[in-house]
Amino acid sequence: MTIKGCIFDLDGVVVDTAKYHYLAWKRLANELGFEFTEKDNERLKGVSRMKSLEILLEIGNMNFDEEIKEKLAEKKNNWYVEYISKMDESEILPGVKEFITNLKKNGIKIALGSVSKNAGIILENTNLKKYFDAIIDGNKVTKAKPDPEVFLKAAEELGLEPYECIVFEDAVAGIEAAKNANMRVIGVGSDEILKDSDKVISGFEGIDLSILEF
Ligand code: G6P
Ligand code: MG
Repeated sequence: MTIKGCIFDLDGVVVDTAKYHYLAWKRLANELGFEFTEKDNERLKGVSRMKSLEILLEIGNMNFDEEIKEKLAEKKNNWYVEYISKMDESEILPGVKEFITNLKKNGIKIALGSVSKNAGIILENTNLKKYFDAIIDGNKVTKAKPDPEVFLKAAEELGLEPYECIVFEDAVAGIEAAKNANMRVIGVGSDEILKDSDKVISGFEGIDLSILEF
């Protein structure tokens, strides 16, 4: 089977923004009076903003009506946007540009598959837009990972079948989404957390096209 397309998650795969999501959620949790650990944060990765808030409130044993929840999510997002508005190319993760350039040289199409509504600002600030043949973000999907919608749309926009694509993901929910889309998935991060992916890499430094062979 030949791989014709690679779909990249954004936060924590292409750029180091997973830490900013964590910082902003932690700030909200602390303001509400409870602790929020990095381990808890794994449950939020790849998950939509509102669903993340639900999980956070469950951890803090709290509940609010919809109107307050909207305000809390907005508060978190304002802090997050403040963090990412200062971003530049230095926050692209090591080896990512080289790897994507290599893929493109070899005729492989590139898509972004993220449920973040802030993907546009990040791609703009880091000058990465030009690398992607298709960009699917939170403004184009209605269902968050682990639903496969984001990856299926990415494949469709690339003009490829799901089995011709490989997904790169740092989130447990994202790995599940790729599996639900019938795609191969390479985990980016820790072996222990991403054990359900087909392969795991710790990052893109030194990674060549042989990673696409199964
Ligand atoms: C990505 C991140 C999540 C984040 C989600 C929504 O999937 O991994 O941590 O909650 O996007 O992001 P947004 O920027 O729209 O709040
Ligand atoms: Mg991610």
